[in-house]
Amino acid sequence: MQIGVVTLFPEMFAAVTEFGISGRAVKNGLVTVDFWNPRNFTADKHRTVDDKPFGGGPGMLMKTEPLVASIRAARAAVSQGQHACKVIYLSPQGPVLNQAKITEFASQPELVLVCGRYQGIDSRILDVEIDEECSLGDFVLSGGELAAMALLDAVIRFQPGSLGDEDSARYDSFANGLLHSPEYTRPQSFAGQQVPEVLLSGDHEAIRVWRLKNSLGTTWLKRPDLLQALNLDREQQELLEQFINEYKSRQ
Ligand SMILES: C[S@@+](CC[C@H](N)C(=O)[O-])C[C@H]1O[C@@H](n2cnc3c(N)ncnc32)[C@H](O)[C@@H]1O
Repeated sequence: MQIGVVTLFPEMFAAVTEFGISGRAVKNGLVTVDFWNPRNFTADKHRTVDDKPFGGGPGMLMKTEPLVASIRAARAAVSQGQHACKVIYLSPQGPVLNQAKITEFASQPELVLVCGRYQGIDSRILDVEIDEECSLGDFVLSGGELAAMALLDAVIRFQPGSLGDEDSARYDSFANGLLHSPEYTRPQSFAGQQVPEVLLSGDHEAIRVWRLKNSLGTTWLKRPDLLQALNLDREQQELLEQFINEYKSRQ
């Protein structure tokens, strides 16, 4: 996968490109990340990348010409003129990113991510250069870089070969619309609590059922909105009912 990032602060991306799972994927060539800095597309001696908003008001906007030139250069390089690649603007005004969107992006051969700074970008650039806006959440960051890094990291997890265990993304929260079931590691006894007996039993079917039931129950407790979006099958309905009854009888 080829990803082009338009940013005034390419150094920030070392957090993703040099560490952990994403860093290893970049090092192993599973994903290529290139940076396009609008400052390198300026024509004045001060290399200006901001400009005043028409109509006044606080703050500056990203200067149009260097930003547009860098987006076009990124798109041309990433897609190598072969086909149109998606250009995503990280923005608090876009739909909030979720796992479904991440898997959609992860299946693209190329992406360009545009990171805003200052008070954002000229609205006409949205119309002409941007295919989609994506938000990290309903809050305002100082720049799009942290949001782009989150998107990058999540997309890289889906590139074949990036995870030590190929199955782990399949069992992550949201993969089947549910939160992951609780997990335990050593010691077997901690803070007066024991690891559930079934997880020590070696009985794979019993462990599957326990995990499914507790995945449903955890989702019911923490994110009931997710359950509403699902059509549970008979087994899932029964397990959720059991979980709820047991939970209520403990209260
Ligand atoms: C200070 S913000 C601009 C906010 C803009 N004036 C507004 O109120 O909608 C600067 C840049 O940070 C990025 N940004 C801020 N919040 C974000 C969020 N929640 N998700 C993704 N990007 C965000 C965008 O790229 C934006 O252009």
